[in-house]
This record gives sequence, structure tokens and C-alpha cells, in this order.
Amino acid sequence: MSSTTTLSARASAGTAPAPALWSSRLAFILAAAGSAVGLGNIWKFPYITGENGGGAFVLVYLVCIAVIGIPIMMAEVMLGRRGRHSPINSMREVARQEGVSSNWKVIGWLATLAAFLILSFYSVIAGWTIPYIFHAVQGDLAGVDADQAGQMFGNLLASPVELTLWHTLFMALAVLVSVGGVRHGLERAVTWLMPALLVLLIMLVGYGMTTTHFGAAVDFLFKPDFSSLTAEAVLVALGHAFFTLSLASGSMMAYGAYLPKGVSIARTSLTVAVMDTGVALMAGLAIFPIVFANGLEPGAGPGLIFNTLPVAFGQMPGGSFFATLFFVLLLFAAWTSSLSMLESVVKWLEEHGIKRAKSAVFGGIAAWMVGLTTVLSLNVWSGFTPLDAFERFEGKTLFDLYDFLTANVMMPIVALLTAVFVGWVMKKASSQEELGAGTGHRLWLFVLRYLTPVGVLVLFLYNL
Ligand code: PFF
Repeated sequence: MSSTTTLSARASAGTAPAPALWSSRLAFILAAAGSAVGLGNIWKFPYITGENGGGAFVLVYLVCIAVIGIPIMMAEVMLGRRGRHSPINSMREVARQEGVSSNWKVIGWLATLAAFLILSFYSVIAGWTIPYIFHAVQGDLAGVDADQAGQMFGNLLASPVELTLWHTLFMALAVLVSVGGVRHGLERAVTWLMPALLVLLIMLVGYGMTTTHFGAAVDFLFKPDFSSLTAEAVLVALGHAFFTLSLASGSMMAYGAYLPKGVSIARTSLTVAVMDTGVALMAGLAIFPIVFANGLEPGAGPGLIFNTLPVAFGQMPGGSFFATLFFVLLLFAAWTSSLSMLESVVKWLEEHGIKRAKSAVFGGIAAWMVGLTTVLSLNVWSGFTPLDAFERFEGKTLFDLYDFLTANVMMPIVALLTAVFVGWVMKKASSQEELGAGTGHRLWLFVLRYLTPVGVLVLFLYNL
């Protein structure tokens, strides 16, 4: 990768210093995939699939990725590349170029706010991987059964001090890399991270095949039973499509801002989406055989992988080694995702004349502080469910609410506004110029004009 880490510079559209660009198409793909592949694929996808009944949910999720996710990703990367700034200022810049109201920068604001909120709790969850690395190294996982694994996880959640420690450590890691500029370290890290993660997941799927419950897991994931599908599940699937692809939260726009002209946005978006989906499905195929083989509950919630994977590692030969590797890789996957969340905030602060290092530290500390409320909602405040008055939010802790608010409310709104802006407000010629000829521009525009807005709106209203 060393040849690709040399950055080229390009004149900026505004007054900010000329942004350095990704050195190649591959560098962008790796960075975007690094953003997309994270806890969403390995931690969240399996547990929400479990909570929402399996196959039918997975099918809806796949449709959302293909029909809404990929076109929105193309739109965001395109807006970023045209704007060449932070999401907030890229939107302002593109609106200016198009001669329309600068109020469209509200898309950038909402997206950045979503990224900030997600980062706050993402860091807490990512922090969970650190004690598991220690457990794995020390051989604590050898021979654990489902009960012991559950107890281990329960002990972790019960300790606000420990959770805060790992949350702090994780946020510090994110800030550290962000200070140095995302590209340099990031380009290199993801080059080996992605393949390694893939190999490990394949091994875990292989392990799942040796259990007698692999068939049950495949059925659960791929045999749709539409009678169990609720309207809320469809909204969750849509929200997760955005979350897992890092959409509607500025990240793809921020990374698109560093994309050299001439790189095909359609092809790169498709590649990233396929990689991301592949990782999620493999995580499902790795986890559900263990769930079923051990009589665990698929709808166990956010602790699902921490209750199941230690059991698998505990039984396999060389388990401590592979467990260490797995949790390290999960930590890295979360790390590269968190960098992309910070990027929107940091870039914006930088545009206000604050030095990169200061911006990263400031953004990190602010998100860290909000993250403390997630830490507490897992233990001391677990009974604090402030929106009980609304049926939909009954029993939801602060952490549950942040998750719901970002993925199922803010992201769909940002995506809807983005689709309307690109589909209806922006000149056709502008998006055509950016996307290039022969990339299905007309079909893409049709989707953004009609399918995305109508789909998101109907789902939204139905869920009110
Ligand atoms: N896509 C990341 C994941 O699946 O873990 C999460 C994420 C990253 C969401 C960046 C939003 C974002 F801006």
C-alpha cells in the first residue's frame, strides 16, 4: 500500500485548504469498507435479525440495501466529491453551485449530529471487545458453557467503572488516529484488516457447520416467514441498511470529499455494499448455529455475540488464539468505523479554523461525555426509561433510544432529504457529470426521485 499512501492535492471549491485525496480507487474502497464494516455487521445485524424473527427480516434488509442503500450511497459520495468539504459545508457548497437555498445544508447538520450520537454509544459497545481480548489471551474462554459466557457478559455490563474505562480507551484510540489525519494510518490498516476479518469469519462459519445446527441457522436466516414480520421490523431493516453502510450520517459524504475525479462512484459503491453485506451474512451464519446448538435465545438482544461466540471459541482447538484474533479484529473494524463518524465533526471544526488535533480531541471528548449516559443506562440507569408514555418507546433505556432515534428516525429523514435534493433539486446535468456516462444514471435518478422518498415516507408514516 505504500505507493497508494502518497496523497495528491487538488484545488478546493471554497476557501478551506486544498484537501488531500485518496491515492487510488482501492484506497477509497478500503476506507469506505472500513467505515461500513463494523459493529453493525457483526454485533448488530445478528441480534436484530434474532429479535425480528429471521428470514423475512433478512430479505427486507437485503432489498433495502439494494434498492435504497446503494443509490443513497452513490448520492452521498457524489455530493461529497462535488462539495469537497465536511458534510455540512459540502451541502452548502453544492447548493451554492446549483443556485438553490443554502438551507439544504440541514442535511449535513442532521447527518453530522447522527454521526456524533452514534459515535457516543458505538464507543461504549466497541469498548466491550477489549476485556474479551484479555479474557481470550488469558485462556478464560477455554471450555466455557453458555451460562458462564452469560455470566461473564453480565458482570461486564454491571460495572459502570469498567465500562467507562473501556469506553475511554476506545475513544482515545479513535481520537489518536483521527489526529494524524484519517488517510495515512487508515489506508494501511484496512488493507490487512479486511482480509483477516474475512478469513476469521469463514473459519467461524466453518465451525458452525460442524455443529448439528447449521441447517437450522440457514433456515432461520434465509427461509422467510412473512407472518412474523411487523411494520416496525421493516423500519428497523431500513434503518439498519443505512447504519451498516454508514449512510445518512455524513461518513460517506466526508470520505467522498477525498475521492479523485474519474473514479466510478457507481462501481465503488456497489463494491462496498457487497462487501458489507457479505460480512453481515457471514456473521449470521457464524453465530446462529451456536445459538441453536446451545439452546440460546435468538432474540437475546445486544449481548447476543458476547453470549454465544465465547462458547464456540471455548470448544474449538486453538480457541484462545482465534478468540484473541477475532476480538482484536472486531475492535479494529469498530475503530475504522468510528474514525469515519469523527471525520464529519472534525472536518467541520477544522473548517472553522480549529487545528485538526484540537478538533479531534474536542469531538472525541464531547462524544465521550454523551457516551457516559449509555454506560449508565446499561446498569445504574437501566430502569430509567424516560419515554414510557409512548407505546413505541416503552421500556427503552437511553441507549435503546439513541439507537432507535439515530437508525430509525434521523437516518431515514436524512436519506429522504438527500434523495429529494439529488433527485429533484440538483440539475440532472450536474449529477450526470459527476457519475459519468453509462452508469445507469437514469435508473438511479428514478430510484432517488420516486422509490426512495415514497418508500421511506410510507414506512415512516406507517410506524407513527
Ligand atoms: N457502518 C458502521 C457499522 O456497521 O458498524 C456504523 C457506522 C459508521 C454508522 C459510520 C454511521 C457512520 F457514519
